[in-house]
Amino acid sequence: MTASAPAGGAAGRTARILCISGPNLQLLGTREPEVYGRTTLAEIHARLERRASALGVEIEARQTNHEGTIVDWIGESRATGVHGLILNPGAYTHTSIALFDALSAVALPCIEVHLSNPDAREPFRRRSRIAKACVGRVAGFGADSYELALEGLVRFLARGRSHA
Ligand code: DQA
Repeated sequence: MTASAPAGGAAGRTARILCISGPNLQLLGTREPEVYGRTTLAEIHARLERRASALGVEIEARQTNHEGTIVDWIGESRATGVHGLILNPGAYTHTSIALFDALSAVALPCIEVHLSNPDAREPFRRRSRIAKACVGRVAGFGADSYELALEGLVRFLARGRSHA
């Protein structure tokens, strides 16, 4: 990253990233720890804040159990100055065309993130409805998946939204 290519590639402005976690992820820490680990969502959010600050970007991290709220947050993200999204839709990953449509509508770069590796689990987790609207996916690294997704998104933004 150079001085002429600030983190986020947002024309000299600090890149703003919104991280959204979906249903049941407020239970991280105690929810099926053999699958999701023992790190709480609050700890994940704190780690993201630290990593974002080291990378020179701003991050806001939220959680909701409600699909429509995620649709609202995605829908207002571009107008509120967000440059990129990190999204763990939980089980809505596998069902929600509304989330796919919301991501397609705002056309912001989005990284799909999962603590577990859905492809290595039950067959119904193998289909992601949102994948086609995302620039990439990080899955299977537990709480680290979020930080790796942030790293990937910042690199993507710094390249000026190209896949090169
Ligand atoms: C998850 C994987 C989903 O299949 C599941 O429904 C979740 C969590 C993950 O982070 O590993 O709720 O998104």
